[in-house]
Amino acid sequence: MNAADRDTWLAAAAEQFGTPSFVYFTEAIAERIAALRHAFDDQLALSFAVKCNPNPALLKWMVGRVDLLDVSSIGEFRLALQAGWAPALVSFTGPGKREFEIREAVLGGVGLLVLESLREAGIADEVARAAGRVQPVLLRIAPDSVPRGFGDQMAGRPSPFGVDLPDARDALEQIVAMPGLRLAGLHIYSGTQCLKPDAIVENYRGFLSIFTDLCEAVDLTPESLVLGSGLGVPYHDGDTPLPLDAVASAILPDIARFREDPRFAGARLKLELGRYLVAEAGYFLVRVISLKQSRGVSIAICDGGMNNHLPASGHFGMVIRRNYKMHRVGGQSAIDSDTGIYDVTGPLCTSIDRLGGGVTLASLSEGDVIAIHNSGAYGLTASPIHFIGHAPPAELMVIDGALHDVSRFFEATTAWPGEPSPEGQGALATA
Ligand SMILES: Cc1ncc(COP(=O)(O)O)c(C=O)c1O
Repeated sequence: MNAADRDTWLAAAAEQFGTPSFVYFTEAIAERIAALRHAFDDQLALSFAVKCNPNPALLKWMVGRVDLLDVSSIGEFRLALQAGWAPALVSFTGPGKREFEIREAVLGGVGLLVLESLREAGIADEVARAAGRVQPVLLRIAPDSVPRGFGDQMAGRPSPFGVDLPDARDALEQIVAMPGLRLAGLHIYSGTQCLKPDAIVENYRGFLSIFTDLCEAVDLTPESLVLGSGLGVPYHDGDTPLPLDAVASAILPDIARFREDPRFAGARLKLELGRYLVAEAGYFLVRVISLKQSRGVSIAICDGGMNNHLPASGHFGMVIRRNYKMHRVGGQSAIDSDTGIYDVTGPLCTSIDRLGGGVTLASLSEGDVIAIHNSGAYGLTASPIHFIGHAPPAELMVIDGALHDVSRFFEATTAWPGEPSPEGQGALATA
């Protein structure tokens, strides 16, 4: 889709449904899915990481388009089921699973429980045995190192995620001995947001070598092996998009060699990924409420900010604050002289509510709409929407040439009436 067509949709979205709002273009997601399948020669199954965008309509759209879903809370598991996903196609990761979450997932038929500790293994074993079931599990491994270049490093140093590699063999032996569990394979997810193909390939090679060593050590013929993903997107001006073909052509021969070992011939290799599939398909729309000149700086004060899109404000793990790409809707044809430099802020009473600093945009007037790019992942779901009590933004999807209102709130992810209260809260209620 070219920039003019995209802006026609964005302008219609802002006009019909108001701002602030998120707009997700499904055509762009479909292209990403196709590009991944093509580049990796259909060797890697695609598991969508719900944490990056749990919009129910998006999850429903994903049915049959990606192979699997990965959830990280029981709330996400419920959303997945409500959206029409078979529980057998869902995996459940996350380092802080509570006992009631593990129970609900196991009894609800979750396809793979990704164990992050022996504590989780013990709980799952007990629940499964009591129900007369055997729960398929993966063990998440935290490797000894992560190549440089990942935006968030989740292993290679003290980490809450998974079992550290030096402890993995012992943990696997204990899990194999638990009658309520069936060890179906291994899971590694050690870093996110990488734009360096060499670092991603080095990481995957390391994973294949860990899988080989550990599976041999405990004589496991795995069904399922998760190769993290780490595939990043270019959030900022000057970022180079990841050359997917370079990653794929470097790693496919390693995968072919790996599969020559009969132990791994039948294993399903998976990428677990969020932002690479959906980030660039989404835009966050805000309207300029007020334009202010302050000591020589033009400030565009908008109707949405960090309350709706925390990552764009730079407060979601960004070490050096950089602007997300953005443009004025309908401003792509502005000639150079018709631009201005703006600080773009949100409506909150805090100076950290800033979506952009010193951004060059087509000249702004009050009422104009600004589109923040790369907002399809870790936008609304990663944001403090209750802060300062503004109404939540709309969520809109462009599907098959039509704009749909897919707004939703967060009830389904919080405790439901009648649900066993999480540990500790019962004691408080009766004290
Ligand atoms: C276990 C796990 N899987 C998948 C993801 C998705 O990562 P991304 O959105 O960068 O693809 C994450 C992100 O933190 C994760 O922790």
